[in-house]
Amino acid sequence: MYSGTEDVGRIRRRTFLDWLFGAGLAILSGTVLYPVLRYLIPPRVKEVTHTSVVAGKLSEMLPNSGKIFAFGGRPAILLRTPEGEVRAFSAVCTHLACTVQYRPDLRHIWCACHDGHYDLHGQVLSGPPPRPLEPYVVTIKGDDIIVSRG
Ligand code: FES
Repeated sequence: MYSGTEDVGRIRRRTFLDWLFGAGLAILSGTVLYPVLRYLIPPRVKEVTHTSVVAGKLSEMLPNSGKIFAFGGRPAILLRTPEGEVRAFSAVCTHLACTVQYRPDLRHIWCACHDGHYDLHGQVLSGPPPRPLEPYVVTIKGDDIIVSRG
């Protein structure tokens, strides 16, 4: 026998189940898509606007030595030549962006990743780096070594 109440109940149950399925699908899509989109679209990194930094103390930099310091959110290298001159460069290797270091035994700048060599002016001596290191301006004020972009 026909019962109108039963049909209405079935329709309501069906509508509710459709809605529940749709909501579940939307939540599942969100939990999968959100991390994928966050990975594909990296967050904006604020550009650090420091144009100069005190990179070290002259009294602490012996001739034929070097040190890595942070400049504008990137590594930079400060070195004192065997003759006593102070120079600074970006420490980001122009090959594949490894951090270079000063080698007192070789008396020049070296990149350990692929054996890249730079002279004390940041020019490529040998190895795969395609360009010189970016030079920075060095100013000495008292005992402070101030490095700035040229
Ligand atoms: S990253 Fe420096 S030589 Fe390759």
